[in-house]
Amino acid sequence: MDKFIIQGPTPIHGELHVSGSKNAALPLMAACLLSEERSEIRNIPRLQDIYTFTKVIQGTGTQATFHQEENRWTCDGSTLDTPEAPYDLVRKMRASFYMLGALLGRCGEARVSLPGGCAWGPRPVDLHLKGLEAMGYKMSQKGGYIEAKGPDTLPPSSFTLQPSSVGATINLVLAAVLRSESFRLVNAALEPDVVQFCEALQAMGADIDGIGSSTLTIRKVTRLKGLDWDNSPDRIEAGTFMIAAMMHPDSVCTIHGIRRSELGGLADDIRLTGAICEFNSEGTSVRVKAPERITPISVRTDIYPGFPTDLQAQWATMLTQAHGTSAVEDRIYEDRFSYAPELGRLGANIEVKHNVAWVTGHTPLNGASVMSTDLRASVSLVMAAMVAQGQTDVLRVYHLDRGYEALEAKLTAIGANIERVKE
Ligand code: UD1
Repeated sequence: MDKFIIQGPTPIHGELHVSGSKNAALPLMAACLLSEERSEIRNIPRLQDIYTFTKVIQGTGTQATFHQEENRWTCDGSTLDTPEAPYDLVRKMRASFYMLGALLGRCGEARVSLPGGCAWGPRPVDLHLKGLEAMGYKMSQKGGYIEAKGPDTLPPSSFTLQPSSVGATINLVLAAVLRSESFRLVNAALEPDVVQFCEALQAMGADIDGIGSSTLTIRKVTRLKGLDWDNSPDRIEAGTFMIAAMMHPDSVCTIHGIRRSELGGLADDIRLTGAICEFNSEGTSVRVKAPERITPISVRTDIYPGFPTDLQAQWATMLTQAHGTSAVEDRIYEDRFSYAPELGRLGANIEVKHNVAWVTGHTPLNGASVMSTDLRASVSLVMAAMVAQGQTDVLRVYHLDRGYEALEAKLTAIGANIERVKE
């Protein structure tokens, strides 16, 4: 198991390039299973979740290859013969549950392990299952597995997601495009990853109305061609770098390869703290300059375009350096605060009450050993360590390797002092 040894404080100063999005890549990879033809997706990040999902896909008999040096992923769906996703892989990554929709869509049957627990509290899949049932699939549960099947053509149906869910939207669309005479999905997720996924399916030949709105209508087509696609940049990685650049008064970074339109209101929140946040005219790069004094700005997570739950830990970490008290409320995942006690070990003043973290700054942080608990908590510990005095050991960075490509190389190149060592 690797750990990071980080010496601080170090301002960050220079240029960063955002990698391809993990959360956008996974549904695109699942979409490729719906076609018997060859597919290619570019701008795929070298991340553990991509390797894991490639293995899940290979387990179905599909030839899938990650050409990692080129960040390119290819797949030949013609050999798919086993519509299954086993527990030992699904438990490593919840998004493997996309196999349920993909295999049902392609084969009309699937046996997929239930994902099990998660480090940030309950993450149910009830909406995925209820939606598939409403679509006309016969669902049953046996030995921790969901077994489902349906006929070639499912009758017209509709389903309302309450709450809106990224994963359920993806699974239901996957299961519908080749099989449902007409499926209406109400309160579909609007996240850019979902919009891109629907556009990619449309490019493969799917009939989807309402892309980019909260009501999708899908009508069966009999076949899809292979996908040929450039994956989008990782908006969460972009946001993470933007927030990291606010934390030390001498930091200034330009982050390239972004899409301004996918960042929601983040830039406005950043400006409210007193930081400078300027985009180029194309909206493909952004310069963030830290303020002298960070004004405490409270945020509340929400579905897109609201403040993303995947950035709340980073925002709370930045607020430890703000002057005053502010609140970070998570309305999507109410238990997602495992980073708070770890930041406390560095000297942060954070009190968590129900789904709100109250952060009081400005507190000087001092190096200590801290433990990564999940992906976004881990990156927050790295951000805190970069402004803490002395040495911080961030243990269990395998969580980070699931979601940030070459993080230590990117940050070290602009002034951070981060070393990866084997524990
Ligand atoms: C995806 C992202 C994750 C992000 C989250 C919210 C991927 C691989 N993961 O996760 O990084 O934090 O969106 O933006 O893209 N819910 C139910 N029943 C269900 C499904 C969801 O009640 O069957 C609830 C959840 O508990 C949560 C809310 O819906 O409160 C949103 O979850 P969802 O959008 O499904 O998150 P994921 O797709 O799992």
